[in-house]
Amino acid sequence: MQNFEYYNRTKIIFGKGTEDQVGSETAQYVRRILLHHSGGSAVKSGLLDKVKNSLKKAGVEWVELAGVQPNPRLSRVYEGVELCKKEQIKFVLAVGGGSVIDSAKAIAIGACYDGDVWDFYDRKKTAAQALPVGVVLTIPAAGSESSISSVITNEAGPWKQSVNEECIRPVFAIMNPELTYTLPPYQTACGIADMLAHIMERYFTREPNVELTDELCEGAMRAIIRNARKIFSGGGKDYAARAEIMWAGSIAHNNLLGTGRVGDWASHAIEHELSALFDMAHGAGLAIIFPAWITYNIKENTPRLARFASKVWGVDGAYYDYEQAAREGVFRLKNFFRSIGLPVSFADANLDAGKIGEMSGRAVKFGPLGTYRKLNQDDVAAIYRLAVEAS
Ligand code: NZQ
Ligand code: ZN
Repeated sequence: MQNFEYYNRTKIIFGKGTEDQVGSETAQYVRRILLHHSGGSAVKSGLLDKVKNSLKKAGVEWVELAGVQPNPRLSRVYEGVELCKKEQIKFVLAVGGGSVIDSAKAIAIGACYDGDVWDFYDRKKTAAQALPVGVVLTIPAAGSESSISSVITNEAGPWKQSVNEECIRPVFAIMNPELTYTLPPYQTACGIADMLAHIMERYFTREPNVELTDELCEGAMRAIIRNARKIFSGGGKDYAARAEIMWAGSIAHNNLLGTGRVGDWASHAIEHELSALFDMAHGAGLAIIFPAWITYNIKENTPRLARFASKVWGVDGAYYDYEQAAREGVFRLKNFFRSIGLPVSFADANLDAGKIGEMSGRAVKFGPLGTYRKLNQDDVAAIYRLAVEAS
């Protein structure tokens, strides 16, 4: 196990009705905020009105910036940065999912910087200062509500790039599982794929003697799979299952499960090219890429992949051969994704495989990917090719 420091400042306020606490929580920081949201689902569900009532009650004023799209765009971030500077705003409240939160985080670092906020995403500068960000979460998925990451799309490329710094970790996250009842099944499924991927990125490590986090990862993945099945078989309003999935989304990415180990993260970088070029949901892209990444690595560390198959997917001793067991594990992973309505190949999602050369070059822009196995451009292209046809 490697040396590590674990610190997560995000105060989690979890459960029914908790959105009513947003005013009093925010008032502990400031009396005037940027209220950031998509202008879509949170308005339609009535959540935004509830948030505004709670803010008003607590004496918090706001300037509003709506219009965040999935795969949040840099142009909207620029608008937010300008607003914060002009209006002297010192706090950003995100009401929505990973896209709204990531946009809020980008605004939070841009507001404290005189140059172009894209410098941080393009790795020309390191972000050390940000306005505090608070969150009312509406979709369990990206884990952005308590993560150190923000992923933004610069329309000019289009480039989809991230900042990973402690200063953007939200100060609080309000999580009411009932707010997720209105999610379209496809978005619920994308979120489930993303949280599973966040655990798999950490689980596939070369680090020895990380038994506790290995077992935590396996238990968390089993709980996600079990409760996802409950949501999809039960009409989506099973509070207990929604609550498990919502909490799992945060646990999957607040790095508790990454303590003492080194994560891989190649699949995320490989996926980001799909969501950048085809503007597809990140979770759907991961459902296509992760099984291909595992398949590419089966011969690299077969016992680890056989263990994943056994502990997470229940592949039992009838498989006397590790490789056979590992392949059965990937098969069950793909079947699970399919069963909740996700694509598992380029063909399923109608993606243009003619872009593989371009995407593999872009994916390694900052150098080889991954730590479990270093991947160069040819490896990345091979993984894309493994994902072209459904098998
Ligand atoms: O835009 P609206 O109308 O609000 O609809 C959204 C959107 O269409 C909808 N939605 C959200 N909550 C809803 C709802 N619809 C009905 N009822 C609700 N309660 O769901 C759609 C997707 O929303 P989005 O915020 O894009 O989803 P998600 O949370 O999956 O975020 C995806 C973004 O996060 C990034 C991804 O790359 C992607 O850009 N990631 C961020 C990470 C981080 N900051 O730590 C890590 C992840 O690996 C990921 O890369
Ligand atoms: Zn992700």
